[in-house]
Amino acid sequence: MKTAFSIAALIAAASAQESYYNITSKPFQLVLTSADGSINDTVSTCHTGAALESLCLSNSNSTSKPNPSPSSTFNFNSSIYSQAPPDHADLGVPGILTWFLPTGNAGLIPSSVYFNYDPSTDSAVPIFQPGSDRPQTIAFNNQDELIVQGYVNWTANPPSSGETYGLKRWFACRTYFSGYQYDNLVWGLGVGKPENPTCVAVGVKRVFV
Ligand SMILES: *[C@@H]1O[C@H](CO)[C@@H](O)[C@H](O)[C@H]1NC(C)=O
Ligand SMILES: *[C@@H]1O[C@H](CO)[C@@H](O)[C@H](O)[C@H]1NC(C)=O
Ligand SMILES: *[C@@H]1O[C@H](CO)[C@@H](O)[C@H](O)[C@H]1NC(C)=O
Ligand SMILES: *[C@@H]1O[C@H](CO)[C@@H](O)[C@H](O)[C@H]1NC(C)=O
Ligand SMILES: *[C@@H]1O[C@H](CO)[C@@H](O)[C@H](O)[C@H]1NC(C)=O
Repeated sequence: MKTAFSIAALIAAASAQESYYNITSKPFQLVLTSADGSINDTVSTCHTGAALESLCLSNSNSTSKPNPSPSSTFNFNSSIYSQAPPDHADLGVPGILTWFLPTGNAGLIPSSVYFNYDPSTDSAVPIFQPGSDRPQTIAFNNQDELIVQGYVNWTANPPSSGETYGLKRWFACRTYFSGYQYDNLVWGLGVGKPENPTCVAVGVKRVFV
């Protein structure tokens, strides 16, 4: 667990630091849809720990947030060194998903998403934390879909470098953390559906506001 001191330090560092990812996009909302139409919702950040927010479905009824919650507004930050993969420009420029954490006395704290891995299961939970120390690199393809880019073919024997591809392993899942349940946007690890039986595959798109 992070201590109050380390959180204050993190917030101070995030406010003072020049971000490497200092080119920001227009603001947008994230919209989740499932193929069967059962999920058609936006994303709201929801408190998951001190200065930490996971990505909740705005209209879900979980124990973790007021229901429903207003949808949050995000940005996409990249750097002057970021460029779309030369072999697949359609996959977009890599960067980070950002959001401003509102705080009482420190104002708006620039935050970015990292993936929180739990080795006991086969999915990871995207979480916003202050700054951009260990962000997950993401991209929006030319359809405005949220993707993670890869270039290693993990099923080749041995694994080898190949063409750049875009993965969309997004799921809406009821997750459990420290006594609370969340209806979260989750990233599946590997090709299959996560073992969590509540997970439903979703597409994630940005809609500029
Ligand atoms: C994103 O870019 C904007 C504009 O440069 C900057 O104010 C903000 O701190 C950046 N966010 C992160 C998390 O780096
Ligand atoms: C963004 O970062 C680049 C390189 O790190 C720097 O050259 C540029 O001045 C920065 N821009 C802003 C607006 O801070
Ligand atoms: C999702 O809901 C919005 C209105 O809230 C509607 O315009 C849109 O067509 C719906 N999308 C799907 C895929 O059902
Ligand atoms: C959440 O609860 C409200 C009020 O009880 C209900 O109208 C709504 O359909 C529920 N939403 C979901 C996704 O179950
Ligand atoms: C990865 O390697 C496997 C096994 O050689 C092959 O069947 C597959 O087409 C490759 N995938 C890509 C994206 O190159």
